[in-house]
Amino acid sequence: MAVYSFHNKTAVITGAGTGIGYEIARQLALSGASVLLNDIDAGLAAQAAESIRLQGGNCLTLPGDSSSLDVISQMVKTAVREFGRLDFAVANAGITTFGSFLDYAPEQFRRLVSVNLQGSFFLAQAAARQMASQGAGGRILFMSSVTGHQAHPNLAAYGMTKAALEMLVRSLGVELAPHGITVNAVTPGATLTERTMRLEPDYQATWDRLTPTGATSTPADIAHAALFLLSDNARQVTGQSLVVDGGWSAASPAP
Ligand SMILES: NC(=O)c1ccc[n+]([C@@H]2O[C@H](COP(=O)([O-])OP(=O)(O)OC[C@H]3O[C@@H](n4cnc5c(N)ncnc54)[C@H](O)[C@@H]3O)[C@@H](O)[C@H]2O)c1
Repeated sequence: MAVYSFHNKTAVITGAGTGIGYEIARQLALSGASVLLNDIDAGLAAQAAESIRLQGGNCLTLPGDSSSLDVISQMVKTAVREFGRLDFAVANAGITTFGSFLDYAPEQFRRLVSVNLQGSFFLAQAAARQMASQGAGGRILFMSSVTGHQAHPNLAAYGMTKAALEMLVRSLGVELAPHGITVNAVTPGATLTERTMRLEPDYQATWDRLTPTGATSTPADIAHAALFLLSDNARQVTGQSLVVDGGWSAASPAP
């Protein structure tokens, strides 16, 4: 059952063919928002949008690399052309590359920074320009990670990008407030997605054990927090990072 009503609201979301992004797109659309769904994998984007439409949501796709300035511009233009306006931008696309600091390659670094930071930064800029021109406020959401708060071996570059996003959230929360635009991050801990479960067969058992609530988060848990931050109820919440990790980061036990 939908908790919020997002009728007459429109959203763009990156990296939403699967995982956390898909679930946010799905919950937004089933709460009444018109959603433009992006993924670098065009087949996955089409499949995700079709699944959302079959469940009764309004969802179109704009496939492409979310770090491309051209794709970002097309996303905002398409949302405005098809839906008439833009209210929400969710910079969800992010890649996780594990690697020892001593061996980390420049090409890995450039790609990680390009997707996690450049894509997020310029989606926010394009969306904020559109929202400011509409004059009715808006919501921008970034997807961070507890890895941006706690140090993890072999995740230096990834953690650095997520910590940077959290500083961006605070800066934009202040800079865009006069336009009525709130800017926040959702900060997941270990979350069960096809990717995390594929990478580590024991993922759920390990994180159920390490998480104070006894349960690893699901994409639905992360999406519930995202929808709150996008809702009118969160009008006074800006420049913040909402951690959703079942209490893991209160003590941060190592896996
Ligand atoms: N799953 C977790 O445990 C976890 C924890 C903390 C933070 N996060 C963050 O949440 C976000 C989503 O994570 P997830 O686990 O759902 O990811 P995922 O890997 O399951 O899905 C990511 C989707 O993004 C797409 N994508 C990748 N690069 C892209 C690009 N350049 N342009 C457009 N689409 C692209 C992929 O094709 C995929 O469909 C990421 O920013 C990630 O860093 C995830």
